[in-house]
Amino acid sequence: MADKYILSNSTTGDTVDLNLITGTDGPAALDITGLYKERGLLAYDPGFVSTASCTSSITYIDGERGILRYRGYPIEQLAANSNFLEVAHLLLYGELPTKTELLEFEGIISQHTMIRETMRTFFDGFHYNAHPMAIMIGVTGSMSAFYHDSLDIHDPRHREISAHRMIAKIPTIAAACYKHNVGEPIMYPRNDLDYCGNFLHMMFATPCEEYVPSKTAIEAMNLLFILHADHEQNASTSTVRLAGSSGANPFACIASGIASLWGPAHGGANEAVLKMLEEIGDVSNIAKYIAKAKDKNDPFRLMGFGHRVYRNFDPRATLIREMCHKVLAELSDEHNPLLELASQLEEVALKDEYFIERKLYPNVDYYSGIIYRALNIPANMFTVMFAIARTVGWVAHWSEMISDPSQRIGRPRQIYVGAKERDYVPIDKR
Ligand code: ACO
Repeated sequence: MADKYILSNSTTGDTVDLNLITGTDGPAALDITGLYKERGLLAYDPGFVSTASCTSSITYIDGERGILRYRGYPIEQLAANSNFLEVAHLLLYGELPTKTELLEFEGIISQHTMIRETMRTFFDGFHYNAHPMAIMIGVTGSMSAFYHDSLDIHDPRHREISAHRMIAKIPTIAAACYKHNVGEPIMYPRNDLDYCGNFLHMMFATPCEEYVPSKTAIEAMNLLFILHADHEQNASTSTVRLAGSSGANPFACIASGIASLWGPAHGGANEAVLKMLEEIGDVSNIAKYIAKAKDKNDPFRLMGFGHRVYRNFDPRATLIREMCHKVLAELSDEHNPLLELASQLEEVALKDEYFIERKLYPNVDYYSGIIYRALNIPANMFTVMFAIARTVGWVAHWSEMISDPSQRIGRPRQIYVGAKERDYVPIDKR
């Protein structure tokens, strides 16, 4: 017989039996789906700290032990052996592709890289210094105005085409945001290049001059994209799922995910880390900023530190730190004061009682900005880079959700704490 929990009211002695739901790994969950219907009770959990909103077979995280797996494969093994599109295939279809399947998948993605010619004119409408994330949200949302032939979300083939389009076109849109910012012509994609090489081409080539990325740059981008590809029910993925639960089209859902990712507590942290390091400026100021981070009356937080789920090292941060050293050693011959500052700040924080007690460790974004900067990607594009990679996770979750027969429209409840019923007072009597 399945384990049950019995909740009891300490005053009335009234009890509620709750079934336990267990997955293949990770903590069990109390099934409270009947709680309101049967007992008129709600569960209260702001920030969803103890709430599982769905079952999912895409990604597994054990935050206490610093474990991250995509479809069962440890992130370290994927980082060491895979490229981004292989991981994208794994996340979307559940299995690593064979050679033939990978070639076919790469071919399909490269055939979808162009955006409609009229979409290119949208970029002219944005202010020259618009934040690229703002442009990303607008242009991605607009895709539903173009690709009407794949918008039947209940047709698995339509969902698949939309997923391919999204994964293929997001880098094109992202690079166009950058080109708009720097006032250069938008570059067409090159389908003879791989996913990361093509993105770097669209970013840094011009009609007058080709850009040949180094092997290390492509390797670093692949790693960052793999590590950012999915992270189960984080804020932006949950946003995509919630938007999609109403039956909204996939392009609108991904635009909502990009909007959620932009916040500094989420994907915006990589840009915020670099700003913070620049503000700290010098190792001699570390103590002052650590004190600010610990001061409850100061809003300053150590950006790139802490994570809702990881209460141990974020395994992605360890991999990125290694790559950071490699990239800086190969791509910049000068001594890098930002990396030195970041290393020392990390060392001081990890020895500080405040950070130890709260289990605050560097997260995925602590070092990613330093790599992006070494690749000449400007700080306001860092979160865009995250969005390119996370698009794969978003579409995988969106598709999983739509094909799950138990999924209903997402509709959290609330505990109302406002005014009791009162009568309308005419304006001249208030
Ligand atoms: N600097 C200083 N103190 C911190 C930090 C930090 N970066 N992060 C958490 N704390 C403290 C909080 O003040 C709180 O202290 P208290 O218990 O004395 O009140 C305690 O640690 C717990 O923090 P919460 O905010 O409750 O943790 P939560 O799980 O809600 O937040 C978050 C996690 C948002 C990531 C937080 O750690 C943070 O703001 N970090 C900085 C931003 C960042 O790097 N975000 C990227 C996350 S990774 C990603 O999205 C890809």
